[in-house]
Amino acid sequence: MPRSEQFFQSIQRNLKKFIDNLEKEEGTQAALFFSPKHHIRNGDAEYPYRQSSDILYLTGWEEAGMALLIRPNAKKKVVMFVPPKDPKMEIWTGFRAGVEGAKEDFGADDAFVFSELTTQLPTLLMGVDVLHYRFAENADMDQLLLSSIAKGRKVGKGNGMSIPERFCDPSLILHRQRLIKSDAELKIIRTAAEITSKAHQEAMKMTAAGVFEYQLEAKIAYVFRDQGGNGPGYTTIVGGGANAVILHYILNDSPLQDGDLVCVDAGCEFEYYTADVTRTWPVNGKFSPAQRELYAAVLKAEELVVESVKPGVKFSELQNIAARSLTESMVELGIMEGDIDELLAGKKYRKFYMHGVSHWLGMDVHDVGPYVSQKDSIPLEAGMLLTVEPGLYFAKDDQSIPEKYRGIGIRIEDDILVTKDGSENLTGMIPRSIEDIEAIVGQNVCS
Ligand code: GLY
Ligand code: MN
Ligand code: MN
Repeated sequence: MPRSEQFFQSIQRNLKKFIDNLEKEEGTQAALFFSPKHHIRNGDAEYPYRQSSDILYLTGWEEAGMALLIRPNAKKKVVMFVPPKDPKMEIWTGFRAGVEGAKEDFGADDAFVFSELTTQLPTLLMGVDVLHYRFAENADMDQLLLSSIAKGRKVGKGNGMSIPERFCDPSLILHRQRLIKSDAELKIIRTAAEITSKAHQEAMKMTAAGVFEYQLEAKIAYVFRDQGGNGPGYTTIVGGGANAVILHYILNDSPLQDGDLVCVDAGCEFEYYTADVTRTWPVNGKFSPAQRELYAAVLKAEELVVESVKPGVKFSELQNIAARSLTESMVELGIMEGDIDELLAGKKYRKFYMHGVSHWLGMDVHDVGPYVSQKDSIPLEAGMLLTVEPGLYFAKDDQSIPEKYRGIGIRIEDDILVTKDGSENLTGMIPRSIEDIEAIVGQNVCS
């Protein structure tokens, strides 16, 4: 994928910061990352390759078959193991940076071809006390590491050098770092949000009864790529009518029906950072009274949560605010009855609102970073990026609720940056109020 100067500047800063963070730890540290496997779709057809976000974040390296070793205390701090240059293979699958490219363009202080890993790694790990490595993600790579450690142990015995005895999950340092977005990262994320805004608005404009869910998906995919994005950061969800009640509905193969709502969850990935946005709108451009009631309830919950985002607020508090607001609305609408506090204590809303109100966002749609620290929900800090996404989902055969609400699913989702003084909604320009949605839906449909 094309990546800008700004992307590589952001990467350089990430790598430097990670090295600084490792240096602050006690004992000699190192971190090791392997790229994920490249999966075959069928026959000789491959899925497009997506590098691990940790490797992208630290190096910008996109090719499969690489390992990255970082040793803050060594002279050669950044060592890469990469696929060799291979003119024949490059005819089929494209350019390979190779060992020289790793050093010249991707910040490696030293580089080897990947096949040299098991001979080099035992020596490179000599003197390291703590290795940051995530086990149990790729059994083959776990095996390569374990055999390198076994080799290193033998050599170490001879020369009195230590090999890593403590292993630490990268989430403890790297993923905490990824949780706070730099200004350079935010510039990229703002572009992902802008493109996502365009795509949602184009989908709204073309919506009409008889249009298929996949046609909205196709329009969105077109805008994402046309505007220079990598494509969707996760599979686009377009759920018309009761399909919206299936939370991760990705079939997208039904025609939209007059009188239904359509729920669209789609976010553009730009330079490896993704937006994550949901809007729900009426297929015929006008909310029915029942749809309006439910939509207003979800919007109210969303606004309350967004308003509460600021430094110091605990992450878990966001879910409490959403649950209370949705429960109050459902009681007002006759969907549930009882004392609000008792209903909340029994989590009765779970039947109609079964997911969390938020998750971290960044290179991964459900981005890395802890939610809990020392058994307590972590407080928000400036630079964190999170979604706010309340929803209500009513099965079409649920006899326990008023008939007018059955088969309706609504989610509203925005991407919220925690700032020094509060928050900024990076996707707030996408129509969301009932009036703004009714004004745009179907604009491009000839009547
Ligand atoms: N698009 C997945 C989510 O909203 O979490
Ligand atoms: Mn989300
Ligand atoms: Mn989403």
